[in-house]
Amino acid sequence: MRCYFKKPVIFAKNKTRTDMKYMGSKNRIAKHILPIMLEHKTDDMVWVEPFVGGANMIDKVNGKRIGADLNKYLIAMWKKLQKGWDLPTDISKDIRDDCRINKDNYKDFEVGWIGIGCCYNGIFFGGYAGEIVTKTGVKRNYIEEAKRNVTKQLPNLIEVDFVNCSYENLEIPNNSLIYCDPPYENTAKYKVGDFNHVDFWQWCREKAKEGHQVFVSEYNAPIDFKCIWSKEVTTTLNTSKKDTEKLFTYIQP
Ligand SMILES: C[S@@+](CC[C@H](N)C(=O)[O-])C[C@H]1O[C@@H](n2cnc3c(N)ncnc32)[C@H](O)[C@@H]1O
Repeated sequence: MRCYFKKPVIFAKNKTRTDMKYMGSKNRIAKHILPIMLEHKTDDMVWVEPFVGGANMIDKVNGKRIGADLNKYLIAMWKKLQKGWDLPTDISKDIRDDCRINKDNYKDFEVGWIGIGCCYNGIFFGGYAGEIVTKTGVKRNYIEEAKRNVTKQLPNLIEVDFVNCSYENLEIPNNSLIYCDPPYENTAKYKVGDFNHVDFWQWCREKAKEGHQVFVSEYNAPIDFKCIWSKEVTTTLNTSKKDTEKLFTYIQP
């Protein structure tokens, strides 16, 4: 009789990540750029993020904060989590596929979780990320990992004022620090509409003139914006590809 041993399945250890996997997440560079920005923030200033996404920068800031995003499902999810929602992990591929097509049959916060937390690399309704056994025999459940990560991240998000709107409609308190992490020019889109980069940079100039401290993460900026930090990083989507992350600010002429 032929006898063989199956490769043992090893369960992945509880990861120590405390961020939400999200396309364009700034979790990895937060330790570099956050101290630079915080030098310009006094205690009475509000931290405003018009492109909050996976909240991977705002979760490391204290004090009064506003986090906005055009993705209504994402914002509904954050608000529901603030109220103590116990994230479901029994999301099959069929549920994910059905939710993608029939969003109206689900609550907005459910669409947010299924579309981001249960999809590969936090790409909104990207490939389904469920349970897998890796080439080395390690069993991973991406949805449970995502839940653990968000649960660790949540305590410092309870006080954030989450808002669903486009950046140009966001009400910003006087003398705020605005950190922008918009969709990068010439990179993958976010399925929430077209983004006009010229208008965006003009909005930044106007906000700086109104007295706010404005910072922007991008690969490139118009010449009147000053690059105050840069670092070569591997991209989250393609680890063999390197890009130079930069932080810009607007200095009034
Ligand atoms: C680079 S991601 C932000 C990632 C976030 N900083 C993080 O670390 O998780 C860009 C975000 O901009 C949002 N977005 C796209 N167009 C927008 C608009 N016009 N107004 C506000 N948010 C927008 C997308 O939904 C996406 O969440």
